[in-house]
Amino acid sequence: MVLDPVLSASWRALVDATTRRTPFTLAALATVDALGSPRVRSIILRACDPDAGVLSFATDARSAKVAEIRGHPRVALSGYDEGTGVQLRLEGRALVVADAAERRRRWQSLGERTRRSYGSSSVPGTSLPAGGRPAGPDEDERVWFERFAWVEVTVDLVDRVDVSADPLERAVFERTATGWIGERLVP
Ligand SMILES: Cc1cc2nc3c(=O)[nH]c(=O)nc-3n(C[C@H](O)[C@H](O)[C@H](O)COP(=O)(O)O)c2cc1C
Repeated sequence: MVLDPVLSASWRALVDATTRRTPFTLAALATVDALGSPRVRSIILRACDPDAGVLSFATDARSAKVAEIRGHPRVALSGYDEGTGVQLRLEGRALVVADAAERRRRWQSLGERTRRSYGSSSVPGTSLPAGGRPAGPDEDERVWFERFAWVEVTVDLVDRVDVSADPLERAVFERTATGWIGERLVP
C-alpha cells in the first residue's frame, strides 16, 4: 500500500530519530496511572519499524511507567522539531516485551553507559534518606539485565502539524484493518 507522503515523511523522521540524534529522539511519553491521572516524562526513542508502525524504548522494569503501561496500555507520545517546524503526536498501545531473546538482543544494542544505568539495586522513584545516595552498581551485569525493560508501542494514530507552513498544516492518520487512513484537519 502506498503511504500518503506526509505519513511516510513522518515515519522517516521517526526512523532518523532512532539512527542518529534528532529533535524527535527525545520524546514525551504520556501514560495513565492507576488513579486515572496523566503522567508524562521524556524517553529516548531507540527503534522504529515503519512497516509495522512500531516505536520502542528502553526503561527500568521497576519504574512507575512500566506499572502504568501494564495497567493501562494505551499511551501517547509527542515530539517537536524546531528546525522543520514539525510536531508529531502519536497514540498507540504499549507492550512490555517478555521474550527473553528479544530483550537480550535489545540489551546488547545499548551502550555501556546506558547499561550501567540499570546497575543500582535502588528502585527508581523511591525515597532517599537525607544526604543518601542510590546504591552503587552491582557487579554482575546479569542483574542489570533483569532490571531492563524493552517497550514497544504499536502506533495507531499519527497527528502531524507543520507550523513552518503558511497557512499551518495539520494531518491525522489512523490505522485501520486495511491500512492507514488520513485526512487534513484545521490546525
Ligand atoms: C534526556 C533524558 C532522557 C531520558 N531517557 C529515558 C529513557 O530512554 N527511558 C526512561 O525510562 N527514562 C528516561 N529518562 C528519565 C525519565 O524522563 C523519567 O524521569 C524516569 O524514567 C522515571 O519516570 P517514571 O517514574 O514516570 O517511570 C530520560 C530523562 C531525560 C531528561
